[in-house]
Amino acid sequence: MSSYSIQFLPDDVSVEADASQPVETRDGLPGSILALALKNHLDIDHACGGVCACSTCHVIVREGFDSLSEASEKEEDMLDLAPGVTLQSRLACQAVADGSSKLVVEVPAWNRNLVAESH
Ligand code: FES
Repeated sequence: MSSYSIQFLPDDVSVEADASQPVETRDGLPGSILALALKNHLDIDHACGGVCACSTCHVIVREGFDSLSEASEKEEDMLDLAPGVTLQSRLACQAVADGSSKLVVEVPAWNRNLVAESH
């Protein structure tokens, strides 16, 4: 089974994904949380364009953390710079699910506020 659902909070929007057919977008790794969000018209801030060079795509994984690809050292370094980082934090552009479980992902309020304020 490689299809799974991913629920984005706090908007409470759920989308279906298939790990065997990773969604590709201009920004983020194929099949990443960011790619899936963008494909489904959900905005997660991604200032560096999804190349692991900022921390604006920080999300908190409430469910399914273990089904995600392991974070690289570079991602860990970037996450250290993110406000409000938790043990369940990932960079949405780098985290790719293997489809073994449902994902619940929270986009932190401060990231959304930052987006609103910077426009
Ligand atoms: Fe910059 Fe993910 S968008 S690290």
